[in-house]
Amino acid sequence: MKSKIVLLGPPGAGKGTQAKIISNKLGFTSLSTGDMLRKAVRNGTELGKQAKKYMDEGNLVPNDIIIGIMKEKIAEISGAFLLDGYPRTIQQADALSAIADIDLVINIDVPDNVLVKRLTERRSCPKCDIVYHLVNNPPKKDGICDVCGTKLCLRDDDKEEVIMNRLNVYRESTLPLIDYYSRNGKLVTVRGDDGTINDVFANIKKVLID
Ligand code: AP5
Repeated sequence: MKSKIVLLGPPGAGKGTQAKIISNKLGFTSLSTGDMLRKAVRNGTELGKQAKKYMDEGNLVPNDIIIGIMKEKIAEISGAFLLDGYPRTIQQADALSAIADIDLVINIDVPDNVLVKRLTERRSCPKCDIVYHLVNNPPKKDGICDVCGTKLCLRDDDKEEVIMNRLNVYRESTLPLIDYYSRNGKLVTVRGDDGTINDVFANIKKVLID
């Protein structure tokens, strides 16, 4: 099985959803830059204060902030790991290649119209960052997190105008990573809109054990 994995894909592709399943079922340590940054914002840390304005507008947090933190976080992991939301720029990918030999990059591909619907109908737990979907993946009790009982909310960056900017930022800054990782033969694309969350996981699992 591959052991150093990157999950790539546009906002709403299902990276976070799949990262949590892969981590639970296959024992990978999952590191999500989005979850890490949201936690920092919640806790009012220096990182959170710096990151908030970029996140609220749907822009990327500057490379010089993210790269140093991820270098430390990745160094702390022992065993198989999965990166969700990192790298997102060529500079981040270059920095990652200097510290880890990534085995596989899984690109989760989903068309834009599906992404917008998924994000506007996503509901997230502001405490533990578990995500739900009003129709595709609802919580057991309406509006309440299954895991910690907190009231679910719409993420500030899941408002339609911010989603449009996030998709533009993705195209400009992150899409070039598809060529970057294709060139060294590490990229596999999996359709993220071809079935349920479990169907997509089954396809990802096949790629991981191939
Ligand atoms: P981040 O949290 O990483 O946001 P993102 O990449 O935009 O991804 P999302 O969390 O929106 O979507 P996802 O692909 O995880 O989809 P999900 O599984 O939730 O980053 C947030 C911000 O932090 C960035 O904008 C930036 O400011 C900053 N940031 C983060 N990393 C950074 C970096 N490296 N550099 C600089 N800045 C950084 O699924 C979406 C919905 O679809 C859910 O409701 C889910 O239930 C549903 N769903 C999932 N799969 C399926 C399926 N197969 N069928 C039906 N519904 C499904």
